[in-house]
Amino acid sequence: MNTSQAIASGQAPGKIILFGEHAVVYGRPAIAAPVHQLRAYAAVFEDGECVVEAPDIGRRIRVEEATRDDPLAQAVRLVCSQVGRPLPRWRVVVRSQIPVASGLGSGAAVAAAMARALLAAFGVEWPPDRVSALVYEVEKMHHGSPSGVDNTVVVYGRPVWFVRGRPPEPFAVGAPLHLLMADTGIASPTRVAVGDVRAAWQADPARFEALFDRIGDLVAQARGWIEAGETAAMGGAMDENQALLNEIGVGSTELDRLCEAARKAGALGAKLSGGGRGGNMIALVQPESRERVEQALLAAGARQVVMTQVPPSTPDWS
Ligand code: PMV
Repeated sequence: MNTSQAIASGQAPGKIILFGEHAVVYGRPAIAAPVHQLRAYAAVFEDGECVVEAPDIGRRIRVEEATRDDPLAQAVRLVCSQVGRPLPRWRVVVRSQIPVASGLGSGAAVAAAMARALLAAFGVEWPPDRVSALVYEVEKMHHGSPSGVDNTVVVYGRPVWFVRGRPPEPFAVGAPLHLLMADTGIASPTRVAVGDVRAAWQADPARFEALFDRIGDLVAQARGWIEAGETAAMGGAMDENQALLNEIGVGSTELDRLCEAARKAGALGAKLSGGGRGGNMIALVQPESRERVEQALLAAGARQVVMTQVPPSTPDWS
């Protein structure tokens, strides 16, 4: 066990996508929110060499020797090259409460926590857009051409309206959103789902562009409902988004079973969140239906159910 004092530390939350995953890769908007209950942490310690330790996944990586496709080593290299410093003799210890390959943004949150810890250890302050751009570079290693929504929401740490290639827009939440996140227990790498959607889009671009347009329109409508605090209407939009995600081929029987169970138990709406196929789904509940929906999700096979809340906020980044 390490008893020495950390030089610096950093952290970042997980995330859920409320609306618009996959279509966001093709330029349509998405709405995402941080999940503050599930976080990634990084701490920097003096050491004899530059290493990253991730005890949760049993990894110890000597950064100098790591291959270019190792996202943890690459996060360290990117920070060092961008601040113009050689690899330091530091040990970066990473811990995360966010399950991997489950649509909750674990890769982005780990990279953001590491970047923040390293920047603090170097005594360098970066604005969020710069941290987000660095995390995006690491995200590319997870799945080729990410939209940028994950790095944006975990770095800004608040709900975002996101369109690829544009800065995130300030976005108000009119009433608290109570959401249950239920894990199918099926690990589903985003890279695979995103790759399959790309192949399907290439095979039939007209059909997929039309589906992405329908998702984009729904996301725009949902934004209005979220801003106005119209949660029931928002729930209906989640169900529609789920139907469209099934049409683009990223649903699964397990996700459908959980969504159906949640709706039957009184959820206002339910959909997958993130890459799909497996991973997590989200259900919008009211405080009075929460317990019932949680039990129904567990009875329908959810491995774990976590409650999160998106608090009301104003369209103001400060
Ligand atoms: O599975 P996650 O948490 O990485 O979410 C991916 C969201 C997608 O829209 C499917 C991909 C992307 O790059 O936006």
